[in-house]
Amino acid sequence: MTSKPPILRQKSFVNPVVRNPFSHRLHLNFFDKIRIVLMSVTIAPLRLLLAFTLLIPAWLCAVITLAGRSSSDHSPLKGWRRSVKGLMVLIGRVQFFMMGFHHIKIKGKKANPSEASIFCAAPHTSFFDAIIAVVLEMPGCVSREENKHAPMFGTLLDVLQPVYVSRTDQNSRVTTIEEIKRRSQKGSEWPQIVIFPEGTCTNASCLITFKGGAFYPGVPVQPVTLKYGSDTVIWTWEGPSTFTCLWLTLCNFHNGIEVEFLPVYSPTPDEIKDPMAFARNVRSQMAASLKVPVTDHTYEDCKLMQDAEEKGLPNEVGLVEFQKLLNKLGLRREHLSHHLNNYAEMAKSGGYIGLEDFAKYLNLPVTENLREMFYLYDRNGSGKIDFREYVIGCSLVAQPANNEETIQLAFKMFGGDKGYLVQEDLTKFLQGSVNMSPEECEVLFQQVDDQNTGKITYDQFKVYAKKKPEYARLFASYMEKADSKMETVIEEETEGDRRQERPSSGKKED
Ligand SMILES: *[C@@H]1O[C@H](CO)[C@@H](O)[C@H](O)[C@H]1NC(C)=O
Ligand SMILES: *[C@@H]1O[C@H](CO)[C@@H](O)[C@H](O)[C@H]1NC(C)=O
Repeated sequence: MTSKPPILRQKSFVNPVVRNPFSHRLHLNFFDKIRIVLMSVTIAPLRLLLAFTLLIPAWLCAVITLAGRSSSDHSPLKGWRRSVKGLMVLIGRVQFFMMGFHHIKIKGKKANPSEASIFCAAPHTSFFDAIIAVVLEMPGCVSREENKHAPMFGTLLDVLQPVYVSRTDQNSRVTTIEEIKRRSQKGSEWPQIVIFPEGTCTNASCLITFKGGAFYPGVPVQPVTLKYGSDTVIWTWEGPSTFTCLWLTLCNFHNGIEVEFLPVYSPTPDEIKDPMAFARNVRSQMAASLKVPVTDHTYEDCKLMQDAEEKGLPNEVGLVEFQKLLNKLGLRREHLSHHLNNYAEMAKSGGYIGLEDFAKYLNLPVTENLREMFYLYDRNGSGKIDFREYVIGCSLVAQPANNEETIQLAFKMFGGDKGYLVQEDLTKFLQGSVNMSPEECEVLFQQVDDQNTGKITYDQFKVYAKKKPEYARLFASYMEKADSKMETVIEEETEGDRRQERPSSGKKED
């Protein structure tokens, strides 16, 4: 009777190979520290000063390049304006040289525009990745809208004529894709576009989900990988701040970087129809070349991580491999926020749900039924439920049981035939079925009876049941057990009638 549905332990839900690619811990040894101190009082300030000073001519070039163009002019830069861009590439190269990037090692061959109009660059680990603009000689790019307004940098960015995206506006996704499509058409006069399809910075230990933008146009793309010689450049969600990252990098005598152009990837007809498959296949190729694994994390995981932190939970709680849950469980972001709220209410054991927390949240004593249900959630048997397990559990265990039928049946069983429940009804049933004490029943009753009328109507009952879907599952398994007990009794008593009894009670479990 308690056999677990096979879907519960699907292999595809195993934990990701890299638990948290958005964190970075710096490990500095004694010699590193000495070097940092020495560089900090000598070369690093000079480097910073020179690199920053060079921003002025770069910015002037940008202003000249864009001079006299109306902001509504959405055509590619031409003629002399393109030549000024050439000068900016030179200034940019000198700036990176100043910052210790003395030599940019290039492997492979850069595709020309007729071979590939999109470069797909990964892993995205740092603001230093801007060096790609120098390597690709001021390509087009995709950038967050907010960046447009940054002083000086905004103007520098404008010269690249980026496709701006807004992360909050849903329509922007569609217009972005349309714009990338338009620019990547054969014979287009636009410069090639570089896209970091991961959409956020990681610590380079894996490749996270590629967003579809670079792949929707269905044109050949050239994968480009970036490798740094030092991990001081890593700038992700948890870890060194922007300035620390910049300063420590300036304190390296030499910053190595290798940019590798992989062979152009032309999509097959199937991949053109299925851009996400195209994205996955390009990612596999890049991951193989980089010798790193892939995970299903996305920018949304970072958002959840922040939400979790705000609720006082360990921020790792939010790392659920959002995309995978989305695809496999059909969840949306709102669902996850909702789950996170419930989870935060339950998780009192250092940010995780222990058996006791689980019981307390449901106002139930720890019984065998409850323990069984807990282990349906606790996928890896660690004795605690993390947020990921909780979400999967809710979707696969609790919600499916929590349908109108179960709720109605429960209401009836509790004694709701007369149209409402009073406290005695609840106590009688719960004492008998789950050993709940009268005091506990009272607490529960008061929670459901939010108007303090002394009666629970079906609607109140339903609202509460929807809010805590775990009850439905418990109730369902109680009913299953009751059923099976009943069946045994029937079998014992009426040997002959057995075959007629079977089908009706057997069907319910399908
Ligand atoms: C990146 O994060 C993973 C998992 O947290 C960790 O194992 C790895 O060492 C990190 N890499 C770097 C370069 O910090
Ligand atoms: C189970 O998962 C938790 C994280 O939720 C982890 O800390 C623990 O080590 C895992 N236990 C086993 C036995 O894999």
